[in-house]
Amino acid sequence: MYRSNTCGALRASDIGSEVILSGWVHKLRDKGFVAWVDLRDRYGITQLVFDQERTSKELLEQARELGRETVIQAKGEVIERTSKNPNIPTGEIEVLVKELTILNKSLLPPFTIEDETDGGDDIRMKYRYLDIRRNPVKNKLIFRHKVTMEVRKYLSDQGFIDIETPYLIKSTPEGARDFLVPSRMNEGQFYALPQSPQTFKQLLMVGGMDKYFQIVKCFRDEDLRADRQPEFTQIDCEMAFVEQEDILNTFEGLTKHLLKEIKDVEIDEFPRMTYDDAMRLYGNDKPDIRFGMQFGELNHVAQHKDFNVFNSAELVVGIAVPGAASYTRKEIDKLVDWVKRPQVGAKGMVYVKCNEDGTYKSSVDKFYDQEDLAKWAEVTGSKPGDLICVLSGNTNQTRAQLSALRMELATRLGLRKPDEFAPLWVIDFPLLEQDEETGAYHPMHHPFTSPKAGQLELLETKPGEVKANAYDLVLNGNEIGGGSIRIYDKETQAIVLKHLGFTDEEAKAQFGFLMDAFQYGAPPHGGIAFGLDRLVAILGGQETIRDYIAFPKNNNGRDVMIDAPATIDEEQLKELHLKLDL
Ligand code: AMO
Repeated sequence: MYRSNTCGALRASDIGSEVILSGWVHKLRDKGFVAWVDLRDRYGITQLVFDQERTSKELLEQARELGRETVIQAKGEVIERTSKNPNIPTGEIEVLVKELTILNKSLLPPFTIEDETDGGDDIRMKYRYLDIRRNPVKNKLIFRHKVTMEVRKYLSDQGFIDIETPYLIKSTPEGARDFLVPSRMNEGQFYALPQSPQTFKQLLMVGGMDKYFQIVKCFRDEDLRADRQPEFTQIDCEMAFVEQEDILNTFEGLTKHLLKEIKDVEIDEFPRMTYDDAMRLYGNDKPDIRFGMQFGELNHVAQHKDFNVFNSAELVVGIAVPGAASYTRKEIDKLVDWVKRPQVGAKGMVYVKCNEDGTYKSSVDKFYDQEDLAKWAEVTGSKPGDLICVLSGNTNQTRAQLSALRMELATRLGLRKPDEFAPLWVIDFPLLEQDEETGAYHPMHHPFTSPKAGQLELLETKPGEVKANAYDLVLNGNEIGGGSIRIYDKETQAIVLKHLGFTDEEAKAQFGFLMDAFQYGAPPHGGIAFGLDRLVAILGGQETIRDYIAFPKNNNGRDVMIDAPATIDEEQLKELHLKLDL
């Protein structure tokens, strides 16, 4: 037997018992005649004591040689500690060691296995297995497990069946590039790894499995960000014989359950906002509604004077920054520099200080009088003490820029509180979005999303205006899930694919299997997929998903621990019928 107890288990009530513990040497304190070892495992830390009087000199000598992270087994008696440590659950006891076995030695780890480590990001990624020994990382993985278990429990209780779908498939377009896998047995042909199980879950609905879910890996070859990984996990769900309302209710139920079980937060009903309103009020389709700072459109109160920057702009829009009227000139200049960074891309920023005495001081006082500025304050909902920040230009770009500024200022002002949860359904997404450069239309969600009833004809005349039965679930300014009601007849699917630029042949080659299936009694259906990594991170109070993934990729899509991707040898290339031309 390696252990009778874990290193987190023993309490004062165990005093007097004989125990066996196994774990890693966390720390050694050597006083010469007595030595203490902090023994660590997944469950905690227990202090071992080696005492030449109470046990033996040999044992003490052996203990004094123990290096950090050595794996040991210790047998001994639980005794009361003379100086207790109230900070850890095992702090009242220690184990007087009578027998010590070294199970395995360890090289000196390249960084300290402490909550606050001296290791930088790169080194911790290379030795991720050591990083996982640290509480912050370990606890996040355990937290993820808890969320996952709750998801499974809830969905299974609601009658959802967990069904696996294949990873070696044909492209399922979700807007990213595919990861491809060459086929050895089929020369010149490739599988694509799924960007999502979208088409398979729809085929399961045709198969009559009317409530499906799967916690599933998805693969997307896209540029990485804090909330994106090339392989990530979805809670993928689909239901048959449902309308949008049924889906929203079901998955609001799941999200409420998770908030209650995991965070003890109760939320009555999730607010809903149309895509158009989200863009108008927050400049963003995933607004963080934990705080206000809604956009106020100022065209009608700012375009009547000689200020040409505003007069020539498609949109003039501002936000009230609470309490920021006290910003110094220097601080405001820094803000202006911030919005002018290439990542944000604004040409400049106009500001108005709403003084406590009810007067206004702006950067455009030359053009606007107090009465004008009072109107701006009214439209943006500014109070005395606030700072109004105004941007102008092309509607889409200006909204995106002001949205970035809103989030940045909210972060600086501490308004994005990680322990506050504000879910929001964003509904009525457009079916298509237009590429600003090429003018081509792409699906906003994916090609299987159904247009709203009666809007199919609009595809011919005003494709950009067609709304879809598509929805996202937003939590604290992050898109944690997205889905839609699907097209379930061949004709509609063919029309939508045609408008996406597929010829009949291309549509048949790529999606023929799905359109064929629609001819065998496909039921009305719809679904949603949550980004599990994102959901877990946000519930955990963070927005970077990497820490919640056991073995994540770095920003270049590399696993620096196993050193992947890697080259393959000639023989393998030949087998796969591949020739490299580098
Ligand atoms: P969508 O593409 O919106 O929908 O993806 C669903 C959710 O997955 C998460 N997500 C990601 N998480 C981490 N890294 C990524 N690279 C990444 N990409 C997406 C997001 C997102 O909301 N098949 C449809 C769902 C459906 O229609 O039912 C789909 O995949 O949280």
